[in-house]
Amino acid sequence: MNIQRVACVGAGLIGQGWATVFSSRGLEVIIQDISQELLNESMERIRLNLNFLEAHNLLPKGQADRSIGKITTTTHIHDAVSHVDYVQESVPDNYDMKKRVFKEMDDAAPAHAILASSTSGLLMTEIQKVTVQPERCVLAHPMLPVHLMPAVEIVGGEQTAQETVEWTREFMTSLGKTPIVLNREVPGYIVNRLQAALLREAIDLVHKGVASPEEVDTAFCRGIGLRDPLIGPFLRIHLAGNGIEDFIKNFSQSYCYRWETMETWTSIPPSAIEPMVKGVRDMEMVRKKSLGEIGAWRDEMLVKILNLIGQD
Ligand SMILES: NC(=O)c1ccc[n+]([C@@H]2O[C@H](COP(=O)([O-])OP(=O)(O)OC[C@H]3O[C@@H](n4cnc5c(N)ncnc54)[C@H](O)[C@@H]3O)[C@@H](O)[C@H]2O)c1
Repeated sequence: MNIQRVACVGAGLIGQGWATVFSSRGLEVIIQDISQELLNESMERIRLNLNFLEAHNLLPKGQADRSIGKITTTTHIHDAVSHVDYVQESVPDNYDMKKRVFKEMDDAAPAHAILASSTSGLLMTEIQKVTVQPERCVLAHPMLPVHLMPAVEIVGGEQTAQETVEWTREFMTSLGKTPIVLNREVPGYIVNRLQAALLREAIDLVHKGVASPEEVDTAFCRGIGLRDPLIGPFLRIHLAGNGIEDFIKNFSQSYCYRWETMETWTSIPPSAIEPMVKGVRDMEMVRKKSLGEIGAWRDEMLVKILNLIGQD
């Protein structure tokens, strides 16, 4: 694998994160968006991200300046992708937009270039239908903040070549990411399906008056989240049940009672919205800090956790 140049198509929150990652690894990066004003804002964010990494010893001294020097901007997709080895698309999440952009990228990128999408729920099988080279199109779904969170979910569509998936896995590994390759596509992949299941239950607990959003978040952070960086749901039940087989034998019945009383709605009930919004606005953190301050606090704490657990 010899990657020299990459393009970030769409330079919003996620595109900025990818540009931070690529440039910090010494790659030449060209970022593209619909206006120079947005690109200038994006460059500012990328600079802040790189400075943050350097200040927290996640980049060698002087690397932030060198990395920012690796990035150029353009408002034209053709110019962005015509001389690169890899394209990471991060435009808004709807099929019309993704298909329009993928068609343009496929027309203009060199034949060897891989075209990856950051989409957080759409299927590559549908997006790649508009391309002439669907075998090089793949999904590489990052987590926010992209420059700190290691996981990237990778999956191809029906027409994606296996080599494309493998190549993307290796590329992500070379960037210091932790790739998770799915066997097949499913809306929301793994992470967002797990989050969706948890979120429905969290909303329902508030809706039914069991607890406030603040209490639900505290229960999550201190009751589940504290273990989360170390063990996932399966290792948890293996430990909790003194072995997975005993867990199934001893806990299936009590889980059955819980699942029987859980909601299965697929859109948020209108009556659940008011208590949820009010509850979130009432949270101590939300009353005391701006969104930017909460994000900055999260990033500081994330670095501490990453340093503690390592990035293996
Ligand atoms: N925000 C998240 O938490 C998150 C996490 C993982 C993946 N994603 C996915 O990443 C993608 C981008 O999300 P985001 O949060 O960065 O959105 P965003 O709105 O912050 O950024 C999207 C950017 O795309 C630009 N854009 C619009 N049309 C364009 C075009 N034709 N060509 C080039 N750029 C164009 C917009 O101007 C904007 O700057 C989505 O597919 C989203 O599902 C988001």
